[in-house]
Parts: sequence; C-alpha cells; structure tokens
Amino acid sequence: SLCREGSDIFTSVRENSPTGEFISSINITAGPRANTIRLCLSGRNANWFYLEGRTIRLNSSVFRVLDREQVEGSVLIAELICYENDIIQGNYRILVEILNENDNKPNFLLETIQPFTISELTAVNSVVFTVKADDADGDVISYILDPSSDAQFFRIDLPNTGKVVLNKPLDYETRTHLQLIMWAQVESNTVDKFNTSAVLTINIEDGDDQYPHFLPCTPVSPGVPVCMNPTYTANITQKHQDDQGRFTINNTTGEIQVDDRLKYSVASVLVRVLYENAFPPAFNRTTYKGFIIQSSSPASIISTYGNQVLQVQVSDRDFPDGRNPNIHYLLHPPSELYQVTKEGVLIAKTNQLHAFDRQILQQVIARDEESGEEVSASVDIEVLQRGQA
Ligand SMILES: *[C@@H]1O[C@H](CO)[C@@H](O)[C@H](O)[C@H]1NC(C)=O
Ligand SMILES: *[C@@H]1O[C@H](CO)[C@@H](O)[C@H](O)[C@H]1NC(C)=O
Ligand SMILES: *[C@@H]1O[C@H](CO)[C@@H](O)[C@H](O)[C@H]1NC(C)=O
Ligand SMILES: *[C@@H]1O[C@H](CO)[C@@H](O)[C@H](O)[C@H]1NC(C)=O
Ligand SMILES: *[C@@H]1O[C@H](CO)[C@@H](O)[C@H](O)[C@H]1NC(C)=O
Repeated sequence: SLCREGSDIFTSVRENSPTGEFISSINITAGPRANTIRLCLSGRNANWFYLEGRTIRLNSSVFRVLDREQVEGSVLIAELICYENDIIQGNYRILVEILNENDNKPNFLLETIQPFTISELTAVNSVVFTVKADDADGDVISYILDPSSDAQFFRIDLPNTGKVVLNKPLDYETRTHLQLIMWAQVESNTVDKFNTSAVLTINIEDGDDQYPHFLPCTPVSPGVPVCMNPTYTANITQKHQDDQGRFTINNTTGEIQVDDRLKYSVASVLVRVLYENAFPPAFNRTTYKGFIIQSSSPASIISTYGNQVLQVQVSDRDFPDGRNPNIHYLLHPPSELYQVTKEGVLIAKTNQLHAFDRQILQQVIARDEESGEEVSASVDIEVLQRGQA
C-alpha cells in the first residue's frame, strides 16, 4: 500500500506566517495508481492547513492571523488520512509547533501602578514599590524610569525586577506628591522593542521629622532651620522654692515629645533664688571720718580716730544679722588715690599723699547687686604728719 509509505509529521512554523506558508511535504509518491490515493486533513486544527498536491500549506488570512498566544499549547494538531480506493490505509499525526515572534506589547498589571502613599521618613536606598508588567509572548521585561517628572527621587537597580528604590530623601514640607513615568519594555533582539508606559502618582505622608525647639528660635545661621536654644531666666524669692528646694515644670504647657524619646531639645533654665527684699540697705552714718599717717608706703588702711580700721558698712534688715552678702562698695566718682574693698575698708596710695592733705570722698556707694538698690555716704580723710599725735 502506498499509503503505508507515509510518516507522522513533526515540524514548526513561525507565528504570523502568511497564507500558503510551507508546512511539510507528504512522503507518498504518486505512482501509476496514484488516482486511487486520496489524502484528507482532519482533527482539531485541520482548518489551519490545506493541501496542495503532496504539500501541506498554512491556511491563514488577514482575518485569521496565526497567533501563538491564541492557540492552545502553541501547537497545531491535525491528522493526515490516506485513502486508497476509499478505504483508510494510513493515518498520520501532524504536530506543528508555532514559533514565537515578539508581537505583543507588555501590559502593566493595574494593581501595581495605582497611586500610593509613602512616608517622608522612608529610608533612602530602600525599595519603595514594585511594578509588574506581563507580556503575552512571555518575554523578559525590563523596567525603565522615564527621566522626566520626578525620576530623580527614584532609581532601578535591577531592571528586570520592577523594584523601584528611593534615591534621595523625601520631604513632605517641600513636596507632598511626586509623579513618575515608567516604561516596561520587552527584551528582544528585534529592532522593534515593544514597550508601554504608565504614570504613577506617589503621595508623601507627613512623618514626624521635625524636632521640637524652644522659643524664641535664633537660627544657628540664616536660613538653617536649626535653632540655638535660648537660656530662660527667672528670679524667684526664697519663699517660692518647693520643699525639696527644687522646681517643677508644668508638663502640659512645657511638654516635649512623649511618643519618641529620641526627639527632644534641651534648653537651660537659670533660676536665681533671690532674697526677699523688704528693706533697703542703710549706712549707719552719713559721713565717716578717718586718717592716715603720711608715709612712702604704696598703700595704707585708713583708721578711725579711735584707732580702729575704718570700715564703711551697710546693714540690711532683710537679713537676720543685718549683713547682706550681695553688697558691693564703690567710690563715685572713682578715685586715683583711694579704693574701697568688698568689706568696706578704705585703702589709700599713701606715697602720693602729702601731710596736711584733707580729702572728702563724696560718695561711697553700697549697691545691692541683686535688687539694684544703692545708698551712699561720704568719707572725710585727713593725712597726718609722721609722728603727729
Ligand atoms: C481555511 O480557513 C478558512 C477560515 O479562515 C476556512 O473557512 C476554510 O475552510 C479553511 N480551508 C481549509 C482547506 O480548511
Ligand atoms: C517605546 O517605543 C517607542 C516606539 O518604538 C520608542 O519610540 C520609545 O523610545 C520607546 N521607549 C523607550 C523608553 O524605550
Ligand atoms: C503631668 O502632671 C500631672 C500632675 O502632676 C500628672 O498627673 C500626669 O501624669 C503628668 N503627665 C505626664 C505625661 O507626665
Ligand atoms: C556703724 O558701723 C560700724 C561698722 O559696722 C560700727 O563699728 C559702728 O559702731 C556703727 N555705728 C553706729 C552709730 O551704729
Ligand atoms: C532678675 O534679677 C537680676 C538681678 O537681680 C536682674 O538683672 C534681672 O533683670 C531679673 N530678671 C527678671 C526676669 O526679673
């Protein structure tokens, strides 16, 4: 039987091939009795083929393009039946693999390109989102950031993963959302690289990136939003100290961060504990009298006529012993020849004075450094000759 000379057909055809494309020739030679042989195509995909003598050709058309992605298993399956005198004598399988051509655009999966929100505190170099596209040809896809719009904020390290990495810090205070154009492109050797683009909207969420600062803010340098913290000062009198001698701060109005212990500011508070001041200091005289004996010594203490050290002193009734430790004595106007010590003792530059000189220091001032109160007295000084009684 001639029909027995045939064999199964295993071959391939490129997708999108034109009609009439050669598929296979049939190995049954027509002899003198050829007219008794009849070939026939049947089976699932038989209508994708037609016979031209002993040749199988592709039956496609502009309305029916051979598309690998549309055919189950990407293989056309049919049978070739060989009749001799109308009796089936041979039955051969036809298996035609459809070879892929890159003929499909990739498509972004919609759920991966929806607007989304990230915190402005997102770490630089971390993956912020992942896009995905698929392609009916099953090709490898690479993802590209379009350099337009806000691409500077992002980068792609591994082009086939779709993972988008944060490239520079976000700042909600300057930008609340960003826009990004992304491309998905099929990796193929052909000149036409199918691609598709998507516009992504990225909303930036305000994060807690502002450190508290004490007011008033004095910027460390102009335009730098870092404050030099002020020193707060307060004067209180002894009475207002609490029992432990410490101070309390109102935790409602003076509250710092309670949710993040790493975010805080430090300010100094200087609290001066002042004496209660009900009475001014007072000299016990309006004029003090004293003398020195003329000598070549550069400095001598002025004495009273009772041969005591002359000490001008104020008493302050705010203090149980009358001694206010905050009193500072000074001469007004300042003198070249006389000085007054912290204790109110007067010292003269003796070697610049002459016997029988007499000086009246108009104002010895006692000043309370805390309250600022001042009182004054005068001092009448005689320079005695050496040996004078
Ligand atoms: C070729 O395909 C068309 C449909 O496009 C079909 O109508 C026709 O029957 C097919 N021809 C053969 C020989 O199967
Ligand atoms: C996308 O494809 C078009 C048309 O081939 C091309 O002009 C464009 O440059 C491609 N885009 C990218 C990012 O490769
Ligand atoms: C603030 O102070 C009040 C009263 O002293 C106290 O009950 C409260 O627990 C304090 N709150 C915090 C957050 O420390
Ligand atoms: C005035 O004060 C001085 C020094 O404390 C003291 O020596 C003197 O006795 C006082 N005089 C009077 C009148 O209180
Ligand atoms: C506190 O006292 C000092 C000196 O006594 C004074 O210079 C300052 O002005 C006072 N400060 C306040 C806030 O009252």
